[in-house]
Amino acid sequence: MTTAKLLFDNQEYDFPVFEGSEGEKAIDFTKLRAQTGAVAYDPGYGNTGSCKSSITFIDGEEGVLHYRGYPIEQLADQSNFVEVCYLLINGELPTQDELADFQHRLTYHTLIHEDMKKFFEGYPPSAHPMAIMAAMAVSLSAYYPDLEDPEGIDLNIIRLLAKFKTIAAFAYKKSIGQPFIYPRNDLSYTADFLHMMFAVPAEDYQVSDVLTRALDLLLILHAEHEQNCSTSTVRMVGSSRANLFASIGAGVTALWGPLHGGANQEVINMLQMIKDDGGDHRKYMDMAKDKNSPFRLMGFGHRVYKNFDPRARILKQAADDVLNELGVTDPLLDIARNLEEIALNDSYFVERKLYPNVDFYSGIIYRAMGLPTNMFTVMFALGRLPGWIAQWKEMRNDPETRINRPRQIYTGATERDYQPLAQR
Ligand code: SDX
Repeated sequence: MTTAKLLFDNQEYDFPVFEGSEGEKAIDFTKLRAQTGAVAYDPGYGNTGSCKSSITFIDGEEGVLHYRGYPIEQLADQSNFVEVCYLLINGELPTQDELADFQHRLTYHTLIHEDMKKFFEGYPPSAHPMAIMAAMAVSLSAYYPDLEDPEGIDLNIIRLLAKFKTIAAFAYKKSIGQPFIYPRNDLSYTADFLHMMFAVPAEDYQVSDVLTRALDLLLILHAEHEQNCSTSTVRMVGSSRANLFASIGAGVTALWGPLHGGANQEVINMLQMIKDDGGDHRKYMDMAKDKNSPFRLMGFGHRVYKNFDPRARILKQAADDVLNELGVTDPLLDIARNLEEIALNDSYFVERKLYPNVDFYSGIIYRAMGLPTNMFTVMFALGRLPGWIAQWKEMRNDPETRINRPRQIYTGATERDYQPLAQR
């Protein structure tokens, strides 16, 4: 343990420095205000560590992403989503028996209470599925009481993981006016979701291996990403001892924003707009660089990755593979590639280290799989659920956890006397 010295108001202060398992350094400011009377100011928390975590490691300069120490490239290539859920939540890869038991528990908790189906009747068909996902995630707490014991918490984690995909599929069916398709116990997690999404009562829908593999990959790549906006929201809400379902519902709403998980939907809208406008990439690149224009190149840039996003690199190749396997061509993929090519050679993007992020290519694959654009962020939420759960559980078990309550610097009116209405 070394120390960092701060010279402030002609006084010298020592603050402890500690190092993470991958060599990241932190100055421990837990006593900063008590010692100096000043707070650290860091809007957006770009320089502030909110916690210690052993779940995910990201090296943004090197484009490195590890889940519990395992490189994302290896998990994407060799694992499956259910196994990654187990790894993130429990910390280790499961044995065959552990995986079989986990899969069995997930399979037998997929139904939602029949009364919850009535919630869907209240939404207009035009309701964005993310509104439904957030509301239904929190509403699960009306049926499954908050359990504080480890076994109870693990049961609610299983319930949430199993039922979230049922709710997502029901939200899709609601939006297209088709009857709900119930979960099937003979299908894997991913195949069962696709069956609930695309089966119709009149046909015997066979889930294709290509779609199942593609979805497994997409869910693995979205499963966890340390202290991003939605995960930090889950931790923030959970720090008040709010229950798991309420905390995850807050994460869903944070993910919905177009600067975060909502970007995958905005990327496709952007590519479609460029296509409809004659494919004039330059015009949109110039708009993205124009400070007076609110337009941004959606799917580009990242708070942490200042090199390539390893997930985008995997998805760029997967977009090719999946479209070829499905025999689908998509002009938006060509536009995306051209945009990437232009941006990676443009000084504006190079100087700001703006590269494609996970959202840039994912929508192309979702489209090819037959998903509507308004379901893209729901797919992100489905993938991120185990990460949110793992982080919530770690926060709950961390003895250093305190209710999150940041400070501020007040810049408003100084004290003044109330003026009666007649005198204003
Ligand atoms: C996700 O945190 C995570 O891990 C998130 C995520 C996860 O897995 O959880 O990885 C998922 O949310 C990915 C990001 C999806 N969002 C988008 O694709 C939206 C477009 N990207 C941007 O809005 C932006 O890049 C952010 C939000 C991703 C990051 O924003 P920052 O870190 O606050 O960066 P910034 O806005 O301060 O930008 C720095 C500079 C600015 O220019 P200057 O003021 O320095 O001149 O880069 C510019 C920005 O104007 N810039 C862009 C840009 N992104 C940043 N300019 C044009 N197009 C863009 N996309």
